[in-house]
Amino acid sequence: MIGSSSIAVAALLALSPLAQAQAPTNQFPQTPLADKRYDSPAALPYKVDSDTGLLRGSQAGFNICNSTTENQSSLCQTSYFNSVEDFCIWGPIEKDSTVADTEGEMVAWCSKPGHGTRLIPQGALTGIQWIKTPDYVQAVGFLDQSQINIKAGDWGGEMDPHGADLRGNPMGGVIFSTAFGGSAKQVIEWHNFVGGNKFCFKACDPAGPNAAHFCEHIYDRIGCDYNIPNAAQDKVFESCLGDNQDYPGVYTSNGQVMTYTQPAESLGAISTMPYTPKVPASSSCSTFESAKVYTGLPTAAATTTSGGAAATGSVSGSGSATSKAGTAVGAKATGTAAGNGAGSVGVGLVSVMGVVGAVVFLS
Ligand SMILES: *[C@@H]1O[C@H](CO)[C@@H](O)[C@H](O)[C@H]1NC(C)=O
Ligand SMILES: *[C@@H]1O[C@H](CO)[C@@H](O)[C@H](O)[C@H]1NC(C)=O
Repeated sequence: MIGSSSIAVAALLALSPLAQAQAPTNQFPQTPLADKRYDSPAALPYKVDSDTGLLRGSQAGFNICNSTTENQSSLCQTSYFNSVEDFCIWGPIEKDSTVADTEGEMVAWCSKPGHGTRLIPQGALTGIQWIKTPDYVQAVGFLDQSQINIKAGDWGGEMDPHGADLRGNPMGGVIFSTAFGGSAKQVIEWHNFVGGNKFCFKACDPAGPNAAHFCEHIYDRIGCDYNIPNAAQDKVFESCLGDNQDYPGVYTSNGQVMTYTQPAESLGAISTMPYTPKVPASSSCSTFESAKVYTGLPTAAATTTSGGAAATGSVSGSGSATSKAGTAVGAKATGTAAGNGAGSVGVGLVSVMGVVGAVVFLS
């Protein structure tokens, strides 16, 4: 009896990352994700994030994606953001996951077959606005997030190619786009908020001099309305041209250009904002029926979860040890609060209160 219980204890200790003598202590990769360059998808290695022994573990999926990797369990982390018909967003590997727990391991869910990825199930998208501006392309969409494995009721968070440890969220995630002329170009700066059955995604022109500003990654707690101010509506599918927005966090008050400072998460939920972001003008919108554009998508019932190669549980454990700037509870609380506001501070405040309540309820 004594013998077998010590074996059980020893087995438990061996499973616990904290008990390992040589647990990783370093979090930074040799090269930050945002500094990695690939001329085309064909130039990608199997895994873009090849660093081993770091706090957040290894890359959950892979980057060489093709017809063999294309199914609803795909762990492809090479994404496309080409047009209203042909784009991908990041979503969890396993059903019922929260964004905060899985941001480092998300995989590509695409609107069109052909990229070696999972597909957004038929009917999951209920509205979308695609806008091309001089410096970027963006999509704001409404969806049943449970169909891309995000837990119903999760208020979500932000993905971008930076992160506190510079490995990006998801780690090793890369994006290409044909929206900037010619063949697919790697998108260097981008941001994606998802949660509350809504997403917004901006991919900045890699040749644009201000890509890092338009696709700023430091405002991860204030959601779509502040990072991608928009007038998108559920049940409407449209593609437009638009003006550039003000840089996220930059606003004009009494004729003076101001820069917002996002408070630290330790100071609690963000309950007031000093400005209402300006929604840039859009034009030349064409509207369409989703069924005519999003063809070839599987139904939700056909969606299966993966074989579990990615060990999400242990990876998210190390994720919290890394304590990434802002995508933990704070992002969950306010990211989508602002994201779901209609763009006015009043509405935003109501949402913030609602979200604070929701977080307490969920935790
Ligand atoms: C398809 O992708 C898989 C997984 O990344 C890879 O092992 C295989 O070599 C690829 N096939 C081709 C023909 O590129
Ligand atoms: C998805 O594709 C991978 C790679 O080819 C394969 O191992 C896996 O069994 C497939 N899963 C499903 C559900 O078809």
